[in-house]
Amino acid sequence: MSNPSLLILPGDGIGPEVMAEVTRIIDWYGARRDMPFDVTTDLVGGSAYDAHGSPLSDDTMAKAQAVDAVLLGAVGGPKYDDLEFCDKPERGLLRLRKEMDLFANLRPAQCFDALADFSSLKKEVVSGLDIMIVRELTSGIYFGEPRGIFEENGERVGINTQRYTTTEIDRVARAAFELARRRGNKVCSMEKANVMESGILWREVVTAVHAESYADVELSHMYADAGAMQLCRNPKQFDVIVTDNLFGDILSDAAAMLTGSLGMLPSASLGAPMVNGRPKAMYEPVHGSAPDIAGQGKANPIACILSFAMALRYSFDQGAEADRLERAVETVLADGARTPDLMGPDGGTPFSTTQMGNAILAALDASL
Ligand code: IPM
Ligand code: MG
Repeated sequence: MSNPSLLILPGDGIGPEVMAEVTRIIDWYGARRDMPFDVTTDLVGGSAYDAHGSPLSDDTMAKAQAVDAVLLGAVGGPKYDDLEFCDKPERGLLRLRKEMDLFANLRPAQCFDALADFSSLKKEVVSGLDIMIVRELTSGIYFGEPRGIFEENGERVGINTQRYTTTEIDRVARAAFELARRRGNKVCSMEKANVMESGILWREVVTAVHAESYADVELSHMYADAGAMQLCRNPKQFDVIVTDNLFGDILSDAAAMLTGSLGMLPSASLGAPMVNGRPKAMYEPVHGSAPDIAGQGKANPIACILSFAMALRYSFDQGAEADRLERAVETVLADGARTPDLMGPDGGTPFSTTQMGNAILAALDASL
């Protein structure tokens, strides 16, 4: 049997720096756990635009379709602000999500004990937090037609369309219920059924899927604005949250900050199973390209490293190895390793991106 294949797309800004640490972790698994991966690296986002005049070339898209999993760093930066909409770095990312049909975006927000003091919320509100946001990723207002900027009655109008089919809601709801069964067995579905027809349909379909196949899971519904409020008031009431593309984008940034730093949050974007039984998959940190700190060794590589842990778990069925990597991260944080984003007001000497990578590799060695 051939080795599992990975396509690495480091992207822009801090993407290449954090991905360099992930590459060392991948090499560690090859050398120390006898789990070699076949790795190909390519361009996405602004760096792809600089090289080919497109944020994702057809060739890279084809490679992404052919591998077992894609690992992506981050895209975007001020240098690309004035590009045509279709050339913007984000379009590369959105094309990957859409063409690979990665409809279920898993964004876990977990508060590590060592970081509970870093949250802007009180320690008792966030300590022990472990929630999973399942964001629909291939439809809704991000992709709905009609869209564009048009002339109408002598003025310009900007139009985007929120659109969901029953199939699209059904499949992401199932993904959420399946995950809940392996966690706290609770799903809270969020929409705006009070003002949006797409929200009414969302609630109907989630309710029907639940009654038909997942009556053993506890289901609740919340309007997304109230959900945002509850995430700040009492986040530990949630186990799995399932929501649409735009609400999921916003709610997951809020959830990320509960954990202390956006530099900590991984994500998995999963589609339908391929012929080899593995799901189509892309793994990426929730944080962006952070151009303000790029190239200075200040970036926190943990979100990207934890994204690889998710790849071990969801693509390669290596739950125990994913646990090992997550425990290594927990260990170094407990030992006081801190990149600048994790420094308290009283300071200390922060770790560089590479030093954080070194510490995690040492903790992996110690785990054997
Ligand atoms: C995210 C990001 C992306 C999104 C951007 C970079 C297109 O914010 O993954 O949350 O809006 O989906
Ligand atoms: Mg976002």
